[in-house]
Amino acid sequence: MIKDENIELFHKMVAQVAGDDRLTQMKNRASVQLDFIDMVRSLIPEDDRSVVWEVGYGGGRTYDRLRRVFAQNPITVFDNRPDGTEMVEGDGNIFHYGDVFEVLPPIVSENIGKVRFMHADIGTSKFDRDMGTYASLGALAAPALAPGALVASDRPIAVEGWTLLKCGLDYPWSYFLWQV
Ligand SMILES: C[S@@+](CC[C@H](N)C(=O)[O-])C[C@H]1O[C@@H](n2cnc3c(N)ncnc32)[C@H](O)[C@@H]1O
Repeated sequence: MIKDENIELFHKMVAQVAGDDRLTQMKNRASVQLDFIDMVRSLIPEDDRSVVWEVGYGGGRTYDRLRRVFAQNPITVFDNRPDGTEMVEGDGNIFHYGDVFEVLPPIVSENIGKVRFMHADIGTSKFDRDMGTYASLGALAAPALAPGALVASDRPIAVEGWTLLKCGLDYPWSYFLWQV
């Protein structure tokens, strides 16, 4: 279950940017994602070679940032469309094609406590459904996340005990950064 306070926070963030035109929203979303990923980069020591997870390749924009700023870390990408396979595998990273909820369980078992950063960007326009999706994703991924790992997400995802470090209330787009 996602906590009510985090759901309220999300609605506040959405209300804050609701009046913006879609082009501005697109720019702001990209800008927030860039800031959050770079913030995570600054919080993880350069010599840390732990695993990074990208949940939702989409158009590959955030992956492209991740592969540059985490060039020394193995990145595993999940998407239910195969579009990023060539790019990701060409980098020597791993692409898992399929529904993340079907694909993830064995990967979690192989990665207990090994993931330093998970970026999750699979939100849709169906907020109620997203809440179930993100509650399940948090619970499923949690055993693979290292103590102190960071999780950035476009929807509330917090699992019991995770700390909210940053949110989109300070930005022109809704986003969350949690620490495990
Ligand atoms: C908003 S896009 C991600 C955009 C990406 N961060 C970027 O910068 O281009 C979300 C992606 O997640 C994928 N997705 C949504 N639900 C999924 C699921 N349950 N399992 C795997 N992939 C999923 C969608 O197909 C889509 O490609």
